[in-house]
Amino acid sequence: MLPAPAVDGDHAAPYRNCSVMPRIGPFAARNPFILAPMAGVSELPFRVLALEMGAALAPTELISAKGLEYLNRRTREYLRHAPVEQPFWVQLFGGEPRGMAIAAERAVAAGAHMLDVNMGCPVKKVTKTGAGSALLGDPARAALIITEMRRAVGDRVPVTAKLRSGWDSTSIGCVDLARQLEDAGAAAVALHARTRAQGYGGRADWSLIAQLKRAVRIPVIGNGDVMSVADARRMLETTGCDFVMVGRGALGNPWIFRALAAGVDAGPPAAAERLTVILRHLGEHIAFHGDQGRAVRSFRPHLVWYSKGVRGGAAFREHVMQLDGAEAVRDACARFFRDAVVSGEPEPDDGVDYATALG
Ligand SMILES: Cc1cc2nc3c(=O)[nH]c(=O)nc-3n(C[C@H](O)[C@H](O)[C@H](O)COP(=O)(O)O)c2cc1C
Repeated sequence: MLPAPAVDGDHAAPYRNCSVMPRIGPFAARNPFILAPMAGVSELPFRVLALEMGAALAPTELISAKGLEYLNRRTREYLRHAPVEQPFWVQLFGGEPRGMAIAAERAVAAGAHMLDVNMGCPVKKVTKTGAGSALLGDPARAALIITEMRRAVGDRVPVTAKLRSGWDSTSIGCVDLARQLEDAGAAAVALHARTRAQGYGGRADWSLIAQLKRAVRIPVIGNGDVMSVADARRMLETTGCDFVMVGRGALGNPWIFRALAAGVDAGPPAAAERLTVILRHLGEHIAFHGDQGRAVRSFRPHLVWYSKGVRGGAAFREHVMQLDGAEAVRDACARFFRDAVVSGEPEPDDGVDYATALG
């Protein structure tokens, strides 16, 4: 049976007047806002947090088709999901149509309701296998991947694709590629409106999202540089896209989905709420990873993001980065975030190498 559409509650309030709720295949969404797939971030605990805050959809981070073939421990971890994930949307990467079809079957057997193909990852290790943004330069193979995956999983499992605008500024082919993917049966297409060569530099070119929207009939997901409610509105209005996907704007800021769903930038959350959410995220992150040491280490980037713009954040980060025990991290968070005051002062770089981030 297909999961019930996720249309409900107050989160839909500002969009109630829309005559048609956005949808992908059989899945109606309660609003147009999607958490971007982000490696090391869009894990089960953070997806659930984003969905509970109001995101309509939250795909997994990229999962290797090869890893799925061998179903190793790490891959099984990636496929764990929660009942609130309706639909559970799994992003796969791979360059071989047959391998992607097998991975699609495996993902569906593990509970996926919807699949996405990563066609944007710029990392060499991925592109040299013909996957990620390498597919931007090989539309025929990209389309064949969609065809084979659809054949493997049938009509009830929508298959979507997430693209960048092109390989570099001399080869911006996303509009033609999207048309071919639509013909191959893609249920929606997301565009991070930067080329592979751009990495995260410059600004996303939203005019390409508008062009792509005009070129296809399937839903279009706009992505790139949405950091606020005002940005999201502007993207919806100026491009006509059906959905807005938010990546970096959600780092340390799952509250953005509450603001987006309500249609107002409410400012930072009260200190007590921030603390409750962070402790819950930490607890679920540790439970998810099992191994406490690994969990504490992999939670550090979240602590950097959560403490960004909070007065005294730099000293907190210096202290907390040296702690290895879950209890000690919990105590440090409780002490620091209990009285958190948002300073609005400029912050140093967050230490994340966006140039190699996987989309
Ligand atoms: C830390 C990080 C990890 C990412 N991992 C993925 C990924 O696994 N799959 C993917 O398609 N894109 C990935 N991306 C790209 C984002 O999904 C998104 O396209 C990009 O960040 C632009 O959106 P933004 O301006 O809202 O951040 C990643 C981005 C970041 C910052």
